[in-house]
Amino acid sequence: MRQILVTSALPYANGPIHLGHLVEYLQTDIWVRFQKLYGNRCIYICADDTHGTAITIRAQHEGRSEEELIAQVSQEHLADFGGFGIAFDHYGSTNSEETRQYCHEIWQALRDADMVAERDIEQLYDVEKQSFLADRFVRGTCPKCGAKNQPGDNCGSCGETYSPSDLIDPVSALSGTTPEIRSAKHLFVEIEKLHGFLDEWTQSGTLPSESANYLKGFFLNQALRDWDISRPGPYFGFEIPDSPGNYWYVWFDAPIGYIGTSKQWCDLHGENFDDWWRNPESEIHHFIGKDIQYFHTLFWPAMLKTAGFTLPTKVHIHGFLTVDGAKMSKSTGTFVRASKYLEHLDPAFLRYYYASKLNSKVEDIDLNLEEFVARVNSDLVGKVVNLASRSAKFVAESGLSATYPDDGGLFEKFAAEGGAIAASYEAGDFSKAMRAILDLADLSNPYVETNAPWELRKDPEKAQQLQDVCTVALNLFRQLAIYLSPVLPDLAEKAGALLNDPITSWEQAKTPLVGTPVAKFQHMLQRVDPKKVEAMIEESREEAPDTQVVAEVSGTAAVDDSDQPLKDEPIAPEITIDDFAKLDLRVARVITANEVPEARKLVQLTLSLGGDERRNVFAGIKAAYEPEALVGRLVVMVANLAPRTMKFGVSEGMVIASGPGGDDIYLLSPDDGAQPGQRVR
Ligand code: MSP
Ligand code: ZN
Repeated sequence: MRQILVTSALPYANGPIHLGHLVEYLQTDIWVRFQKLYGNRCIYICADDTHGTAITIRAQHEGRSEEELIAQVSQEHLADFGGFGIAFDHYGSTNSEETRQYCHEIWQALRDADMVAERDIEQLYDVEKQSFLADRFVRGTCPKCGAKNQPGDNCGSCGETYSPSDLIDPVSALSGTTPEIRSAKHLFVEIEKLHGFLDEWTQSGTLPSESANYLKGFFLNQALRDWDISRPGPYFGFEIPDSPGNYWYVWFDAPIGYIGTSKQWCDLHGENFDDWWRNPESEIHHFIGKDIQYFHTLFWPAMLKTAGFTLPTKVHIHGFLTVDGAKMSKSTGTFVRASKYLEHLDPAFLRYYYASKLNSKVEDIDLNLEEFVARVNSDLVGKVVNLASRSAKFVAESGLSATYPDDGGLFEKFAAEGGAIAASYEAGDFSKAMRAILDLADLSNPYVETNAPWELRKDPEKAQQLQDVCTVALNLFRQLAIYLSPVLPDLAEKAGALLNDPITSWEQAKTPLVGTPVAKFQHMLQRVDPKKVEAMIEESREEAPDTQVVAEVSGTAAVDDSDQPLKDEPIAPEITIDDFAKLDLRVARVITANEVPEARKLVQLTLSLGGDERRNVFAGIKAAYEPEALVGRLVVMVANLAPRTMKFGVSEGMVIASGPGGDDIYLLSPDDGAQPGQRVR
């Protein structure tokens, strides 16, 4: 039996749970429920992430202490998670004695390994608010790729991490003023000392291949940057024991919250902590979103390795939620809180819909509201529940037949599919599991239609046949309910109650149920009422746009551009759309960038078009870009240009840039969310 400890990312205690978060918590909950049902020993650990400037700012704004705020938010989060059936084995807080204690322990290990450095650094300071600015409270232009309006810690466009004072044209999100730079002592963890280990670990199959490929770029020909893990007080967090007045940055203690919260669970249940966190036999699985992979795939394993804890077996990384194809937004009402959803709709709908969309790739998933209604109604109500509702009432008195009737091999077929469905769950490919289950449902409904129990019941001579047909239908329904139970625990419970045999194990799908009484049929699942979806969206609409800071930042940009570029190079003769279509422009990611010693102007680039597709390109941008500053960023390339043999190798395309040349060259950057391989048109 495997022993598996599972975590979801710890939600920040500064705001409510919304439908985006739920992608992750439902995904994790389904995976955990599957493991438990399958007979593995599995615990699900989570906690609120309570430290940092954002909490202080909100607490001040509301005129209360940080502790009061995080206690209330914890209650709200627990109510939301509970409402969606997310069943943690333990839910804690990073603001706990246990977490503090493991912070001390890991810190000491880092000190002992000589991985801590001390330097004065310049940090942005909001003079109006009298506060050093947390990374997320500064926005500006990425120093590496030039993308505008990026947060202070890592660029959403090229993925670069940096410190906020490196941002170009920073703006404080607290006051909208331009912050000033002040100097303060900071402590750094030198993860470069684990370069070899991390390079190997990230490529060892623990991460989705997209993430592993993306991380390759960080290791090639460059040192891993030191990680700034302290903030000068006042700061809501843990004070660093050997550096009074300095506090661990929230991202230092947040993942340690996984360990501290596990310890609480162990103490509550008389378990040995070392069995879980210092045991190569125990599996650790983290579920996280793609926005926080850097922390979980570089810093976190570095900390665990240094302090001798079990390393993660797998980091499961999901994409972001969009609603009707767009980012969630308060002004359109698609930024829907978990609690608002629950006022209108059954959590089972969303559990099933997300399951039908999730796979093991790092892909964004779209909640298409029309599809949501249609899919739940046709799949769950129309195909699964219908099976029981059309047969249960005819055997309420007789119960199931004493021996399992001939069903033409349906039950056997359903049982045989169990292995493949389990493998899809295990792999995180829930959409594949859902498709396989629905395919089975599609086989069972014709059986009921052909045998028409509602006709059989009219003829008293056919009582036995009626009982047999319903016994088959209800057994097939039960198999579906077992396979769906990680996703739909309530449905499984109702199916267990209906047939007087609770669903507790995956194995139950292998043996038909016979001779048991059948309870009176209770409604299992209502149809989704589209009006309720509308009402939920309507009530989620908020007057205040959620892009206030963004607007301020762009509002400051002057619009008095010179007419010189057009004069220098007038617009070319007109072409047709077909001419343009010949040009195949693609988004590409720079995987490596090297100088070409023999060529003054050239940089050699390896570009990724996604997956294993690579292109070697020589670009004349040396005067404008340092090669190492290019690694990781997205560019646009001409992908169907005939290859050109040069002195140093073959160039298989061209990257696109503007500007006259020399050091006046500007590479084009796709906006956030663009994927390598996408065509530009
Ligand atoms: N507090 C950190 C995590 C610390 S883990 C040691 C954090 N919190 S969060 O509340 O912002 O996000 C929690 C999780 O929810 C993250 O994994 C994040 O990726 C995920 N999501 C938040 N918004 C999301 C969407 N819109 N879509 C999908 N997942 C999203 O990050
Ligand atoms: Zn960038």
